[in-house]
Amino acid sequence: MKRVYIANWKMQMTEATVKSYLTKIKKLGDNRDEIILAPSFTYLPLVKKSLMKSKIKLAAQDVAAWEKGAFTGEVSASMLKEQGVTHVLIGHSERRFYLHEDDTLIASKIEQAMKSNLTPIFCIGESLEEKRQGKRDSILSRQIRVGLSRLSDYLDKKIILAYEPVWAIGTGEIVTPFDMDDASRIIKRSFINLFSEDYFHQQVKVVYGGSVKSDNVATLKEREDLAGFLVGGASLDPVEFAKIIKA
Ligand code: PGA
Repeated sequence: MKRVYIANWKMQMTEATVKSYLTKIKKLGDNRDEIILAPSFTYLPLVKKSLMKSKIKLAAQDVAAWEKGAFTGEVSASMLKEQGVTHVLIGHSERRFYLHEDDTLIASKIEQAMKSNLTPIFCIGESLEEKRQGKRDSILSRQIRVGLSRLSDYLDKKIILAYEPVWAIGTGEIVTPFDMDDASRIIKRSFINLFSEDYFHQQVKVVYGGSVKSDNVATLKEREDLAGFLVGGASLDPVEFAKIIKA
């Protein structure tokens, strides 16, 4: 099964570490899987230039919820497009938490990405507290319903849905088969209710993120319902990231 592997570098790199990373990663583009790197905005041109002849794709870690205008500090979807970006992370739990991004803002970001032909990597997930309280279903359903409330004009385009339980991000704790089954069921049902089964099967790729490493990814790769992985910490080391892909 051809899978997608997304490296979310977060705010962890320097120009020097990016340059050294790029010298080690180019060959990964020859892989049959789809590889996407998500550097910080400032490194996008550098990564783009270095990967020109490679099949590795470029994602941004965020996008503005508006098309153009007086929005200090924001970066629009069309600006990202100019830099060779093909994908964009939207709704990551760190942005929901630290920057108070809500589902409505996320819906506008997804709409902007779609308008500019950027594929959203739409992140959802419940917190530990919400999981303990048995709220996974209501949280994920709401995140999908509101987050995708502006999608109806763009059903001809692909979207990546990243299930990232907040309790698994950066904690070393990986999703259990039980939790993944449950999340998969909720995600599929939500998409079918909102759109259609055909849409879900043809346009949506569900990936998992949260403490993915080379020594725990093999069992997750046995799952037919996972089209790939969103990797944070372990993607910062190009050798480890390559191991995850090959595992
Ligand atoms: P992690 O992060 O792999 O370090 O848990 C994943 C993410 O935040 O996308």
